[in-house]
Amino acid sequence: MTWPITQSSRVAPGPSGGWTFGVLRSFQRDALGFLTEATATYGDVVRLQFGPITAHLVNHPSHVEQVLVRCSPEFDKRTRSVSKIRATCGDSLLSSEGRLWQKHRRIMQPLFRDKELARYIGTIEDAIEQMLRGWRVTAGQGEPVDMIHAMMGLTLNIATRVFFDCDIDRHTETIEHALKDILTDTWRRVESPVDLASMFPMLHRKAFRRAIADLDAIVYEIISERRHRPRDAGDLLSRLLDANQATSDQQLSDRELRDAVLTLLLAGHETTANALTWAFCCISQSLAAEKRICDSVSMQSVGCDHQDDSVVTSAFYETLRLYPSIWIMERRALSHTTIGDYRIPRGSMVLISPYVLHRHPQFWHKPDEFLPDRFVDGSGHVEPDLGIQTRYAYLPFGAGPHRCIGEPLAKYVGVRVLTRVYREFRLRLLAAHTIRPIPGITLRHGDHVRFQLQRRAEHEGAGCDRS
Ligand code: HEM
Repeated sequence: MTWPITQSSRVAPGPSGGWTFGVLRSFQRDALGFLTEATATYGDVVRLQFGPITAHLVNHPSHVEQVLVRCSPEFDKRTRSVSKIRATCGDSLLSSEGRLWQKHRRIMQPLFRDKELARYIGTIEDAIEQMLRGWRVTAGQGEPVDMIHAMMGLTLNIATRVFFDCDIDRHTETIEHALKDILTDTWRRVESPVDLASMFPMLHRKAFRRAIADLDAIVYEIISERRHRPRDAGDLLSRLLDANQATSDQQLSDRELRDAVLTLLLAGHETTANALTWAFCCISQSLAAEKRICDSVSMQSVGCDHQDDSVVTSAFYETLRLYPSIWIMERRALSHTTIGDYRIPRGSMVLISPYVLHRHPQFWHKPDEFLPDRFVDGSGHVEPDLGIQTRYAYLPFGAGPHRCIGEPLAKYVGVRVLTRVYREFRLRLLAAHTIRPIPGITLRHGDHVRFQLQRRAEHEGAGCDRS
């Protein structure tokens, strides 16, 4: 059902900022603090002027539902950030619109359904086991683990095995560096008031150009090999080629296949790695949560598929509430419209920040605390006693037609990694005070997040008592 929107002529309140760049400098200095403060001061619709660009930050579940779901055709993704992402992914699922986006979505979405994902369970478990083998040695030597590095490596290992099941171990370091360089450069260009590279691609930085060239070389080689020697490797590339053949009018060219693969790598790798690293940080700072997790995973038997993973799942959901990998989403209003009581001019941007919304005091009890029990039933819905409007108060995977297609994969990987790690290890976070969220395309940490590992079996049965 759709409700007509009555037009308002009221201009939303917001910080004035400087003459030339408006609030851009404050945003660049501390985006998370700035947006949080702006909603606390001005309310659920805040007008923000970034130089010539007018944007409105909306921070209420019903506004989110309007923009992302109910009136989604009135808002498109022709935004600054998406135009920068296009430099890497071409016109793919992340960056296209209209019929082209529908074509990609129709082909890709079925590949991520539960039935399809079941094919990859063994692959995912093998990759986790490979990492744990290394951790056993590290723990024995009393060395710490660099969690960012470990999770980046693991999620890349999983992604490459699931996407194209071939021996690309020799390339993983190149891919990891390339993706990091691309995301860093893309965010720099999003934040920068002037981006000449968007008009003259030859002005892209050397590191960016090299990263694209490296990825292209690897991905095109894999595509070409598969085209010349077709085989059902059971991986995502095979499914993409199958889907391709099934709907011949919709066939993907090599370039489109390359764009699809890079899109999945870009969208799925760092998001999942960061979520997991944040999960380890949050859990290690809450004795109660850690104990519940350790008790729960100890009770699960190894290798059993039907286990109650609700305790671990809640911890993963709660991590994504406090540290949503995609901490900001951007849309463009296609016509004059009204959100809440305020006028949103045609062509202006609408910003939704899961990071800010997930800490909205009206919808979250003790919003800054890590309390996995709030997701008691494991469904991801928020505080039951807060009643209506809570559905769109939680959107780590977005909402509406552009909702994340990788959500089932990310959740599966997140829950299995946490389960298997806590079944075997106790983790102690070193230098916790230095860890703070750094917004980029995804919500990152600083450079190093180190954990001391201890094998659980060595000193305790079940539970994580630190006595
Ligand atoms: C914890 C991990 C992840 C988080 C938090 C996350 C979050 C999101 C969010 C918030 C969106 C919506 C963006 C918007 O509406 O503007 C999105 C879209 C998307 N995600 Fe994820 N994601 C994760 C993992 C993955 C994985 C593993 C994949 C693929 C392998 C993936 C692929 C995509 C794609 C292709 C889109 C664009 C969908 C469209 O526009 O139709 N994501 N993701």
